[in-house]
Amino acid sequence: MVRSVIGGVGSYVPPRVVTNEDLSRLMTTSDEWIRSRSGIEERRFADEGVYCSDLALEAARNALEDASMTPSDLDLIIFATLSPDHHFPGSGCFLQAKLGIESVGCMDVRNQCTGFLYALASADAFIRSGMYRRILVVGAEVQSSALDFSDRGRDVAVLFGDGAGAVVLCPCEDGERGIIASELHADGRYAKALYMTIFDISRKPLVTPEMIEEGDFWPRMEGKVVFKHAVTRLAELVHSTTRKGGVGLGDIRYVIPHQANQRINLMVAEKVGIPKEKFLSNIQKHGNTTAASIPLLLDQAYRAGKLERGDLLLLIAFGSGFTWASTLVRW
Ligand code: UT7
Repeated sequence: MVRSVIGGVGSYVPPRVVTNEDLSRLMTTSDEWIRSRSGIEERRFADEGVYCSDLALEAARNALEDASMTPSDLDLIIFATLSPDHHFPGSGCFLQAKLGIESVGCMDVRNQCTGFLYALASADAFIRSGMYRRILVVGAEVQSSALDFSDRGRDVAVLFGDGAGAVVLCPCEDGERGIIASELHADGRYAKALYMTIFDISRKPLVTPEMIEEGDFWPRMEGKVVFKHAVTRLAELVHSTTRKGGVGLGDIRYVIPHQANQRINLMVAEKVGIPKEKFLSNIQKHGNTTAASIPLLLDQAYRAGKLERGDLLLLIAFGSGFTWASTLVRW
């Protein structure tokens, strides 16, 4: 049986550190509020002129090096982001050009916090079908340009950061390692509980001065609604994905959850009865990096020497859409 394995992993974050103190000079907030509500201490922001495909390029290079491959080995690029370089074309095309290759297919996945897992499940299906053999799956974000740093946007602005993570997915026939099960879900009734109307195609013209006045350039979130649904759906995923993969909760070495709020992940751990030490986190240093958060955390755990061959990892995410998704993988 062919399974997809993670042949290489890499990540990259921009060098500029922005602390909670830094943000408290821009808006009415405090280190104490941000830490206690979310677990975040600092995040990285990209400088002006840096695109998400630039961050993705560094992460992709690291993943390719880890896989002992070069860009010309790739058959396909799948790029997950909510902060693409431009409205179109997709950031995958910009990344492909920056990697110095041509002709291989590129597609963008616009699924916000679950984007990387939607991209990974798509890559897995391509590989198992035999259509492609070496797929670069990237999650990258430059969100710091689209945050409202006034008091109006403080509930959202303090949570997000920039960064990128990537894996190279390849086929493997040893029957042990690789992706065992994936799930993709969505509930569009909640599409406006976390959204940004910057591109409202029903408007003629698309961009009006009123949009700027009304703050339509900024993301909006019903924080408590998102929080409640996240805990419920993520806990459901832990049970359903382990069941689908035919493994027990006790078999899981690490849960690698999307980093939206440390309180969400601790509640999920408690709800499903998995020790909280098994829920890895990096939200303290990076905030919520949306599509980048899971590959970034995976890469950091890998490079810190935490992951051993054969470890069972459960990747779970919930976010805007609402969408939620999971991948069970034997490392
Ligand atoms: O990855 C995408 C998915 N996103 C998420 O999963 C986020 C889910 N939601 C959350 O993480 C939480 O709802 C937040 C961290 C956003 C907010 O935490 P909360 O405990 O739900 O706080 P709240 O919204 O109930 O706000 C409590 C108070 C409010 O003041 P009043 O009305 O009680 O006077 C807010 O105005 O905190 C105020 N507040 C702030 N105060 C200081 C909101 N943002 C801030 C801030 N600094 N940045």
